[in-house]
Amino acid sequence: MSAVSMHASPASGAVARTVYAELTATLIHTRQQLAPKRLFAPGPDAQQIHAYFQAAAAAPDHGQILPWRFVMVPAVSRAALGEVFAQALRERDAGASDRELAEARDKAHRAPFIALAVVRDATDDHPEIPLPERLVSLGCAIQNLLLSAHADGFGSGLVSGQALQTQGMRRLFSLAHDEQAVCFVAIGTADRRKPIRPRPDPALFVSELNPENAHAR
Ligand SMILES: Cc1cc2nc3c(=O)[nH]c(=O)nc-3n(C[C@H](O)[C@H](O)[C@H](O)COP(=O)(O)O)c2cc1C
Repeated sequence: MSAVSMHASPASGAVARTVYAELTATLIHTRQQLAPKRLFAPGPDAQQIHAYFQAAAAAPDHGQILPWRFVMVPAVSRAALGEVFAQALRERDAGASDRELAEARDKAHRAPFIALAVVRDATDDHPEIPLPERLVSLGCAIQNLLLSAHADGFGSGLVSGQALQTQGMRRLFSLAHDEQAVCFVAIGTADRRKPIRPRPDPALFVSELNPENAHAR
């Protein structure tokens, strides 16, 4: 634990606030997507993984309905996931070669830590909290998780793809009828980093409301 976190909280004074702001900005701006094939052992240990999920639990959650969950994929379950990747490829391409099928299977064995992020839709519970809000909550949970792993020095990446939507994937992860697989979260030790991508200028995504210019698009 750092001196700052032992002796001060972000609310306790200007000096501590500056340190927290700098740490937070550094953490946010140095996180980057790393493909699972770039992530190797050692991965996070059980205690670290628990801390990452505690960080996920701190995500904003309208109504505190916990509309998401994570399913970790331990080493013993990777082969079953690999079969689902291979089957998904066969469904997309009946002529997939043995080499392509082997590559699809291999994807399940990358990165020491993999978990599937799952969102629950508003079909059965709390219809007042629609899917976009639930996905925002999941996105915040994932970001908390990624930043916590990054703070420990691990690399991380998100992976989606067509296999997520297949029946085989739904069956393997026992998804309920109102659940959707969103992406895999992969964490491990990066063999090398790449330059941080240029982030979009806020001017591209921030504007100011002016009622006089309001019009339907
Ligand atoms: C829900 C979600 C799914 C993603 N799936 C993939 C993926 O399948 N493959 C991939 O290369 N990146 C995937 N990404 C990561 C983005 O490509 C990455 O965040 C983006 O390129 C920006 O890079 P940065 O995270 O390093 O800033 C995904 C991101 C999100 C939010």
